[in-house]
Amino acid sequence: MSPAADHQGLSSSAAAMVAVALVLFSSLHLAVAGAHGVVQPSRSGDIAGGGPCALAVTPLGYPCEEHQVTTEDGYILSLQRIPRGRGGGGAAGGRGGAGARAGQPVLLQHGVLVDGMSWLLASPEESLPFILADRGFDVWVANTRGTRWSRRHVSLDPSSRLYWNWSWDDLVVNDLPAMVDFVCRQTGQKPHYVGHSLGTLVALAAFSEGRVVDKLKSAALLTPVGYLSHITTPIGILLARAFVGEVISDFLGIAEFDPLAPQVTKLIRVFCRTPGMNCYDLVGSITGNNYCLNSSAVDGFLKYEPQPTSTKTMVHFAQTVRDGVLTKYDYVVPERNIASYGQAEPPVYEMSNIPAGFPLFLTYGGRDSLADPADVRLLLDDLRGHDRDKLTVKYLDQFAHLDFVIGVCAKDYVYKDMIAFFNRFN
Ligand SMILES: *[C@@H]1O[C@H](CO)[C@@H](O)[C@H](O)[C@H]1NC(C)=O
Ligand SMILES: *[C@@H]1O[C@H](CO)[C@@H](O)[C@H](O)[C@H]1NC(C)=O
Repeated sequence: MSPAADHQGLSSSAAAMVAVALVLFSSLHLAVAGAHGVVQPSRSGDIAGGGPCALAVTPLGYPCEEHQVTTEDGYILSLQRIPRGRGGGGAAGGRGGAGARAGQPVLLQHGVLVDGMSWLLASPEESLPFILADRGFDVWVANTRGTRWSRRHVSLDPSSRLYWNWSWDDLVVNDLPAMVDFVCRQTGQKPHYVGHSLGTLVALAAFSEGRVVDKLKSAALLTPVGYLSHITTPIGILLARAFVGEVISDFLGIAEFDPLAPQVTKLIRVFCRTPGMNCYDLVGSITGNNYCLNSSAVDGFLKYEPQPTSTKTMVHFAQTVRDGVLTKYDYVVPERNIASYGQAEPPVYEMSNIPAGFPLFLTYGGRDSLADPADVRLLLDDLRGHDRDKLTVKYLDQFAHLDFVIGVCAKDYVYKDMIAFFNRFN
């Protein structure tokens, strides 16, 4: 390839990558921008000015604490704790009563390009953290590095490129273990884990390497992402083609990926003029046609999301779509992979290595075009050796990607069974 051709390839990759942003979550903004106007989420994350507790939890009458944990590589992450339900004492899941310690802890991990607020948007009767707290669980809501409430580092500033030099591999090695350890230390108990979307990918990758499994009682994975080769959206196909030359990583790649940045929204507009791309139905075309979203929860979603991530995470995500295998970040140049991994190809995360006795609750939807049912079945095939009584799988043919987090019917179809599952392993 001539240098000129190479250059051409790189810029179209970059443009395509921007399109990917659109895909994931800023799509929601466009879809309703006309009707509701776009609220720009703050990027500063000053908890003193009112963190998620003050914004979305205490006003509803629930106790809430802001916590911070520093990862081994220096990122300062925020967690919100809802230690009890509205009634005060714990109930079924916990050890309630005056003076009793809080109930069984549960750690909730959101997906990519959103943050912990995404769990807190529906009514208390419909949102998972509140439902868990009212059942006596001690709820911890995680916020991944780079999102609004987790943008601090011991030495790096988010305006510096080096702050953004990480892919989701680093969440596997650093963020997830740091948060699990923190909850264990604070509560003296092993938590259950709940992940959505990319929050499942990070967990599955960690479990496959034997990380954190001995520090969790179980994991519930909503829309599990282990494979992405059957992604059915036009954008999925675009993703698959986009990153032929992601060698760009070191030039453009170490950067913040903010779906609301002006350069990005401008490119999104261009992307939306692509023939066949209907930006007014992007919510459906990206995540599938959601079944039971409450419009007020969607409004909340648009107010607080999307959130930034690293460009390297987006590239890594695209590699998974393209290659059909879950590997560590591919530096493409063999020497770079050798320097990082001691081998020319990035190591594969082997899902079949997940310890067979670790309790797993998996649930997925028939209309999810991101965590496509065919891809989930590939994952389930890897788990065929899992202990039968430690694996619960729930398939919901009407559900799409976001129903599992902000759907008003998730409480009946998903959370009830999930809580019953947790209670088996408390
Ligand atoms: C949607 O949420 C609002 C506010 O939480 C609530 O008042 C309303 O009843 C919900 N609608 C449905 C259909 O659940
Ligand atoms: C980014 O991180 C990778 C892997 O941790 C490292 O090899 C590389 O040197 C870093 N890049 C810069 C510019 O520091």
